[in-house]
Amino acid sequence: MGAGRAGSATGGTDRPGRTSPSPPLREGASICVLEVADQGPGLSPEAADRVFERFYRADPSRSHEHGGSGLGLAIASAIAQGHGGRLELETATGAGCVFRLVLPAAGPGPD
Ligand SMILES: Nc1ncnc2c1ncn2[C@@H]1O[C@H](COP(=O)(O)OP(=O)(O)OP(=O)(O)O)[C@@H](O)[C@H]1O
Ligand SMILES: [Mg+2]
Repeated sequence: MGAGRAGSATGGTDRPGRTSPSPPLREGASICVLEVADQGPGLSPEAADRVFERFYRADPSRSHEHGGSGLGLAIASAIAQGHGGRLELETATGAGCVFRLVLPAAGPGPD
């Protein structure tokens, strides 16, 4: 968890390896950042582009009976955007995932 100002590391435009359904934050805005990282299988660029879609599940072996509904990330990103922030994903095949929740800071940011 951290705090700072939106810039190329957190608030810039999406680029290969980083996806988000939400628009970039204003450059220089005060933000709080919460990262959750895993060392799982990661996602291909094609899957990473789609995981925030409702009902999308990247792993075809995960059925409704045994897997999730494909809604978790769509809901999480919608909530983040509803608070003026965004949910980002950094990933590559075999490289795990880093989900980064970026929210505007409530008070004056660090100078
Ligand atoms: N940490 C992760 N590593 C690899 N793939 C992931 C990861 N998180 C999500 N995914 C892929 O993204 C898909 C969508 O995730 P999402 O959380 O939206 O839905 P879900 O986990 O399938 O179901 P729900 O969260 O609604 O129970 C997952 O089905 C999975 O294929
Ligand atoms: Mg889920």
